[in-house]
Amino acid sequence: MTSPVRIAVTGAAGSISYSLLFRIAGGEMFGADTPVQLQLIEIPPAMDALEGVAMEIDDCAFPLLDKMTLTDDLKEGFDGANVAVLVGGRPRDASMERADLIRANGPIFTEQGEALNEVAADDIRVGVVANPCNTNALIAMNNAPDIPDERFTAMTRLDENRAKSQLATRADVSVKSVTNMGIWGNHSNTMYPDFFNAEIDGKPVADVIDEGWLTEQFIPTVQGRGKAIIEARGQSSAASAANAAIDHVRDWFTETPEGDWHAMAVPSGGEYGITEGLIFSYPVRFDGDGNWEIVDGIELTDFAREKIEITENQLLEEREVVQDLLT
Ligand code: NAD
Ligand code: LMR
Repeated sequence: MTSPVRIAVTGAAGSISYSLLFRIAGGEMFGADTPVQLQLIEIPPAMDALEGVAMEIDDCAFPLLDKMTLTDDLKEGFDGANVAVLVGGRPRDASMERADLIRANGPIFTEQGEALNEVAADDIRVGVVANPCNTNALIAMNNAPDIPDERFTAMTRLDENRAKSQLATRADVSVKSVTNMGIWGNHSNTMYPDFFNAEIDGKPVADVIDEGWLTEQFIPTVQGRGKAIIEARGQSSAASAANAAIDHVRDWFTETPEGDWHAMAVPSGGEYGITEGLIFSYPVRFDGDGNWEIVDGIELTDFAREKIEITENQLLEEREVVQDLLT
């Protein structure tokens, strides 16, 4: 057994957390040999509901759960945390785009960035789930000057998983056959799921699936999947979002298999001509030690560059709207 990993989760009484927390405590994020401590954070009106969730977690008698704390105090919640999964914030309804949440959810991330900066462990890693997640991560990062920027990420793993599933179904193969599925840009309806560089059983996807379907059906389906789920379910994705959050953090600490990559929104250092400092989803690889690197040398067609410019411009617009929250 290794020493416990301390995982802080905001929005811990919400829908996503109702799937996420049980899977973390069951060992799916850090494996069967690593005990975990859950530091659950909510706002005061949700503390009673959080008590109920904690009672259910207790009732699972998870052998790996070393400790659980519940709080509405950010400094207590983030104290000594090695990982923070920031889920807390409003979801949209079917009439909204994710960016419409920006002024409701954005300010949450100034105080969360400040609190992480003050009390989190030196090795803290942050994954933002609450929407608009790229820009929320940008706000948190800008309010945490002592934490290295590369520790702040936003979740586009759900988009990678959606894209892989769509391609596997269309090609009638197992989802395991689909690799190198990059998502570029914003977790929004402008994201660019790059099928040109994705592979099915080692072959370019466009050799297996007709390009008309890929450009006309696949891209809009992945871009619009969040809204389609809200329209069908009456609520935004929750279990699949929790699953993606598990994948996001687990793979951050797992060496990526040779030649493959994953989608994660990370601070741009100007790679592929993207504005430096934006939290931009790129194809990334992990070294197994909690470090990521953007995959270089990926060929981008004019079609891809056009799409990537659209999503970059949207992130620049979002940044403009929250200028006052960036220090
Ligand atoms: P929810 O409304 O069920 O739960 C959100 C929880 O956050 C609530 O319990 C609320 O009390 C809490 N909260 C609000 N402000 C908080 C704060 N300042 N500190 C701590 N907790 C706070 O919503 P949900 O379905 O769990 O979704 C949460 C967020 O995740 C939404 O913004 C949603 O749009 C986003 N989301 C992102 C992805 C993604 O792929 N990145 C996927 C699904 C949902
Ligand atoms: C999703 O992609 O399912 C989430 O971002 C929720 C949403 O608002 O679409």
